Amino acid sequence: MVQKRTNGKKPVISEEKTLWWDDEQSCIMAVDQTLLPTEYKVLEIRTINALSDAIRRLAIRGAPALGVAGAFGVALSARSCESDIEFEETVAADAAELINTRPTAVNLSWGVKKVLLSMENLPPEMAKIMALYAAKKIAEDDTNTCMELGRNGAKLLPQIGTVLTHCNAGALACSSWGTALGVVRSAWKMGKKISVLSCETRPLLQGSRLTAFELARDKIPVTTIIDSEAAYLMQQGKIDAVIVGADRITKDAVFNKIGTYMHAICAKHHNIPFYVAAPASTFDVEAEAKDIVVEERSRAEVSELFGKTTVPENVPVINYAFDATPLELVSGIITEKGVFYPPYDFSELK
Ligand code: MRU
Repeated sequence: MVQKRTNGKKPVISEEKTLWWDDEQSCIMAVDQTLLPTEYKVLEIRTINALSDAIRRLAIRGAPALGVAGAFGVALSARSCESDIEFEETVAADAAELINTRPTAVNLSWGVKKVLLSMENLPPEMAKIMALYAAKKIAEDDTNTCMELGRNGAKLLPQIGTVLTHCNAGALACSSWGTALGVVRSAWKMGKKISVLSCETRPLLQGSRLTAFELARDKIPVTTIIDSEAAYLMQQGKIDAVIVGADRITKDAVFNKIGTYMHAICAKHHNIPFYVAAPASTFDVEAEAKDIVVEERSRAEVSELFGKTTVPENVPVINYAFDATPLELVSGIITEKGVFYPPYDFSELK
């Protein structure tokens, strides 16, 4: 995988793409999210192994961005396959490898399957063209979806107020614009004076590194807090609403970054609205929370900090990447098709 600097150019993240296909080089380009906020680098991804690695180490992350990555991944696999005889088998194996990189975010398998479907029953040369066309369309639609979703959600936010968010559901987690942060951006566009409290989001700090970075870049007021500070600030009346993204929404729960459930309980206790913003592609409405595999990540993410060991060697660590917030704690789910309110009925999304 080659890493390229962008010649010191600092893009406006909300307007620039996070992830795109480079026609000249026939490869995937992706902002490396592990290096922000101090370094802005674009990865040139030419193989499925490199893409899987980028997803596993969270260089590419966030549910909608994973959907776009999965889609481009299938197109990349198809275009890299030199043998017509093994074409279908190779693409199927690469698709399975990609889906297995992160099991909880449903958008990843959604993006992969959508592109596989576009290639069905086509001869390899035609399938290669269709796959790339379908993947580019998924990337383009993602931006439009986020903007539509943003407009739907912006109406729910107060004219002036403070919104708490957890993890990063911004432009970096999508093709551009963002889901939860897309709502904040749309509210700003409407003239609402919203400031954001960005929870740092232990252990990988997507909130303090990425959410704070992209909002500050867009000059939207943002303050970082440690995750465990949220309840106290709610008690002090300093938070008007909570808004988060989602990795998967089943018929009974919202899966999102670990810690989301804790914020939802605290919000309910303090009568603060708790909103989820997600595209239709994040819904898995036939499934129940108990059926979902929640990704467990490495011990090192928790036991090492700034190059120092922070947990005694003989003490085990539990490191779930996501939790499940029961729908009864959710005040509204903002999508590009409109806002769902309790009692939730997602039948129109089937
Ligand atoms: O582990 P991550 O960083 O991929 O987790 C991401 C989240 O939990 C986001 O909130 C979610 O994917 C929504 S992104 C619009």
